[in-house]
Amino acid sequence: MLRLAEMKAQGEQLVMVTAYDYPTARIVDRAGVDLVLVGDSGAQVVLGHSSTVSVTTDEMLVLAGAVRRGVSRALVVCDVPFGSTEVSDAQAVETAIRFVKEAGADAVKIEGAGPDRLSRIRAITAAGIPVFGHIGLTPQTATALGGLRAQGRTVETAERAVTEALAVEEAGAVAVVVEAVPTKITEVFASELRIPVIGIGAGPADGQVLVLHDLAGITEGKTAKFVKQFGQVGDALHAAVEAYTSEVRSGVFPGAEHQYGADDEVVEAARA
Ligand code: KIV
Ligand code: NA
Repeated sequence: MLRLAEMKAQGEQLVMVTAYDYPTARIVDRAGVDLVLVGDSGAQVVLGHSSTVSVTTDEMLVLAGAVRRGVSRALVVCDVPFGSTEVSDAQAVETAIRFVKEAGADAVKIEGAGPDRLSRIRAITAAGIPVFGHIGLTPQTATALGGLRAQGRTVETAERAVTEALAVEEAGAVAVVVEAVPTKITEVFASELRIPVIGIGAGPADGQVLVLHDLAGITEGKTAKFVKQFGQVGDALHAAVEAYTSEVRSGVFPGAEHQYGADDEVVEAARA
């Protein structure tokens, strides 16, 4: 699909960013990214949950539909949330079809590379829906990985990362997101793979993905080691609302230019 492997072959970096609503989707599309990810990170970033596992398919579909309506140029990739693909290949295909039909997704992203996960990638691909893989740190099953921590820093997890990356390509994925894996381990498989490796805390790879609210400086508190803040949008929003609050309280707002006028006879009639 969409020149993904071609871009990798030509050494073009793929740029992916998350979005969860219409206005930010319009902004990231206009900024020129290649891929917009409706991440299940939205569970935390816009819905306020403490982990991604809480978000439902119906909630993700609302976010995805809003993003779709804001994107006219980039590809829209949607995370299938925890619980929506675990039961069977049939369940996974039904979920993926909902993202395409109800939200207009171009592709879905599915975490993990165990035997069941590979089977899901094959089944969804066979249904004609492009699949992005996601290996290394997989937040939906982070508890089983011992928490939100980098993968591939031990012999065992490094070997697993390499095996998983190759298996995800073999199963038919069109690209693979690699999260929180040492650069030198990513390099071991990135050159072997024909499909692009999109890194997040995984070194340069074939492209990058970040959570919009992290890169724009909206996320409050501590962020992961791999996050770079490219703006202070949270501070800008805070300042705007603070200025509004202060102008309402001091009577500066609304000014004459924000008020409607009425002819004298209309006012007279209203008084009578
Ligand atoms: O949900 C998400 O935002 C993601 C990216 C961080 C890759 O899966
Ligand atoms: Na995700």
